[in-house]
Order: sequence, then C-alpha cells, then structure tokens
Amino acid sequence: MTVHFIGAGPGAPDLLTLRGRDLIAACPVCLYAGSLVPEAVLGHCPPGARIVNTARLDLDQIMAEIAAAHAAGQDVARLHSGDLSVWSAMGEQIRRLRALGIPFDVTPGVPAFAAAAAALGAELTLPGVAQSLVLTRTSGRASAMPERETLANFAATGATLAIHLSIHVLPRVVAELAPHYGPDCPAAVVWRASWPDERVVRATLATLNAAAAGGLERTALILVGSALGAEDFGESALYSQGYDRRFRPSGTHPRFPEGE
Ligand SMILES: C[S@@+](CC[C@H](N)C(=O)[O-])C[C@H]1O[C@@H](n2cnc3c(N)ncnc32)[C@H](O)[C@@H]1O
Repeated sequence: MTVHFIGAGPGAPDLLTLRGRDLIAACPVCLYAGSLVPEAVLGHCPPGARIVNTARLDLDQIMAEIAAAHAAGQDVARLHSGDLSVWSAMGEQIRRLRALGIPFDVTPGVPAFAAAAAALGAELTLPGVAQSLVLTRTSGRASAMPERETLANFAATGATLAIHLSIHVLPRVVAELAPHYGPDCPAAVVWRASWPDERVVRATLATLNAAAAGGLERTALILVGSALGAEDFGESALYSQGYDRRFRPSGTHPRFPEGE
C-alpha cells in the first residue's frame, strides 16, 4: 500500500501529468483538497472509488482516512492543487506517514505561477532584466511569515515576484513594492489561471489596484517585475550563432570540440 501525493495542477483538468492521471485511475481511495482541486480531475478515479473531500477535515481525520486505507491494503491518491512543493500542506502529512511507517511517493504538478505566466504569455526570467523568480506570499491567519521574508527584502533584488494567497491585501502589496520597483513597473493579476473563467489583468504598480478592482477574490496570483512588460532585452546567448556549446559545437571551445 502506498500513498501517492499528486499535484493536480492549477485548475484545468488536462493540466495533470500522465503519471498523475494513471495513479488516480489505479487507486481505490482518493483524498482531494476540494477548495482548489477541480472536480473534473476526479473523473479519472476508478468506478466505486472512495472519494473524500478533505477541505472539511482536520489533519487527524485525514490521517485516519489514510490509516484505514493502509489497514485495508488500498493505495491512496492524495491530490493537492498545483504542485506539492509549495503551500500544499504535504510536509506535515509526510511527517506523520514516516512516523507510522506508511510508504508514500510524490508526483509533481503544474504550479499556479506557471499557469499564470502561460496566461500572460510571458517568460518571467529575461536576459539582463530578471534572472530570478521569487514565489512568496504575505502572512495569513494560518501562517505567519518568517521575519526576514518581507516583500521589501525580496523587492530589493529586483527579481520577478509571484505573490500567492494575497489578492485580499492587494493595496498593501502594491504600497510595499512601489518604492522598490517604481510606479511604472509592469504588474499583473491572473485570477483562476487555466479555469474556463480565467481573468488576466495587466497594469503597472500605479494602476494595478484600480485595474484589479471588483470580483477578483481568492484564487489569484499577483505578478510584479520588469520582465512582465520588457521588450528591450538581450537574446539568450544559448541560441546565438557564436555560442559554442555541447549540443551545437562549433569547435572553438576547448570543452566542446566539434563532434563530441
Ligand atoms: C494554497 S496555495 C496552493 C499553491 C499550489 N500548490 C501551486 O503549486 O501553485 C493557493 C494559492 O495559489 C494561487 N493559485 C492556485 N491556483 C491558482 C490559479 N489557477 N490561478 C491563479 N492563482 C492560483 C493563489 O494565489 C492561491 O491563493
């Protein structure tokens, strides 16, 4: 028996890995975080599967479901939205599974920031503009931020920011970032990226509050950074004609002689 943690993607049911789909189809028990995982993904469950929405359960109750499946020798598909490496609450479940000696594995998913970038048609790391992406959030009722992980500290680097779980405090986010990025810095809100009712708001830090006003609640990502609007950036050296590299050697670099 194994608990398969599966990243269920940002919302569109076809933004699920083939491995994730096949595991869901093979598991007689499916626990899903119903607040964000789309119901359509559950269509991959086999007939007769026990399907439990864990949005209303606490951690003890979730572990009781898993322990019951373990006792019955039944594999569990454990679905969380996006990818499991960020804000999935997988860590605390894994800690308990390890203590109980219950095997598990992890199948990654498409994270919300990637779906939002796709909706914007944007590369978030452009040569000479931004080469780092910070995935962050502001503090919430359930999670305080570590002292040094402030928006101001991240903003000081000029990196592209993808700010999660914060659309309800958008004016505060804008106010904290504007002194660092400037009022003309490109910014965007992507609401329900990849869902049928997805909405994309493009603005600058000066205009974002007004542009995003009205109805964009909960499942939204705030993106800020020069890369979002840049047209004036260098081309990647990787694809330039004169750049000698292993997979397109021209023979001028001693490390990549032609034909290697
Ligand atoms: C609990 S976190 C889950 C993040 C998820 N594990 C991931 O990999 O993206 C939920 C937050 O992710 C963002 N989010 C999740 N799905 C989204 C979507 N489809 N469109 C925009 N933002 C999304 C929102 O900021 C939301 O408040």
